[in-house]
Amino acid sequence: MKIVKTINVPHPFPYQGSKRGIANYILPYFPSDVKCLIEPFCGAGAVSIAAAAHELAEKFVLNDLNKPLMDLWSEILDRSSVLCDEYERQWYEQQSDPKAYFFKVRDEFNKTHNPHQLLYLLARIVKGSVRYSSDGQFNQSADNRRLGMKPNTMRKNICGVSALLGDKTTINSVDFRQVIKNAKENDLIYMDPPYQGTSFTRDRRYFNGLSYEEFVDTLSCMNEQNLSYIISYDGITGEKIHGKPLPSGLHLKHLHINAGRSSQATLLGGNHETIESLYLSPSLVCRLENDKPAIKQLKALEQQEFAFA
Ligand SMILES: C[S@@+](CC[C@H](N)C(=O)[O-])C[C@H]1O[C@@H](n2cnc3c(N)ncnc32)[C@H](O)[C@@H]1O
Repeated sequence: MKIVKTINVPHPFPYQGSKRGIANYILPYFPSDVKCLIEPFCGAGAVSIAAAAHELAEKFVLNDLNKPLMDLWSEILDRSSVLCDEYERQWYEQQSDPKAYFFKVRDEFNKTHNPHQLLYLLARIVKGSVRYSSDGQFNQSADNRRLGMKPNTMRKNICGVSALLGDKTTINSVDFRQVIKNAKENDLIYMDPPYQGTSFTRDRRYFNGLSYEEFVDTLSCMNEQNLSYIISYDGITGEKIHGKPLPSGLHLKHLHINAGRSSQATLLGGNHETIESLYLSPSLVCRLENDKPAIKQLKALEQQEFAFA
């Protein structure tokens, strides 16, 4: 079940793996009293932006191990006007030779890690899909059929995101475990780690991968601390199941979301329908069961789950 209220939600930059397309299927699992929404693997932060648009949390913590990406987030939230001016300048400057201009900006970004340049690169790369070499150099190519989001549209999106999150958000760039350490029982943690299908091999899509064991150990500690969390974790594309399910010993509630053909189907290399896994922590399930406004949503979703069984 989708949140029915339709609000126009801005998005700051294209990012492969973004949960923009399914954020509305995740929000119904939010308790009605979330003090702080913590997103330790935030990428483009689609769920936090959607939650802010629906006023589902008082405060937000955005974190990603990719430091230049979080520097870009700081610009979006604190200096959006300068960032948009710089984007506009680059967008027009590229016009005479967009291909060569992209490589010039990419070379400079690899030396400076300038967030203004990162925004331009993200807007121009193939399917918003970042790629890094083994020595951490940004090496994705441009989609030369497109010149990137038009400056006015970019400004509208960036200013929209800044208005939603600007004065309520803390930015970090550390390993996910460090931000979780500060979580409290009345917070909610939404985790969208890199996909198992690639993060156990060498994951070039994101800055860094993490191991299944490390992730499971962290979840076990989070259960001991009664933390409320939601995890998006791999899924099924067509007949193929991606990734090892999370262990039953964690007592998570496992749900499925039909993500359609768009985001993950493309990400995982096919054109099939994708069913994404969503896991809820035991404390979150308990919290939702005692939360009258949330109970109705949860019941409807439990019925929908049978459709995929
Ligand atoms: C699937 S993406 C998240 C996409 C995000 N949900 C969105 O809507 O755009 C996973 C992110 O985890 C980050 N990451 C990988 N390992 C990490 C770690 N150990 N700690 C924190 N972030 C990490 C990657 O840089 C990447 O941006």
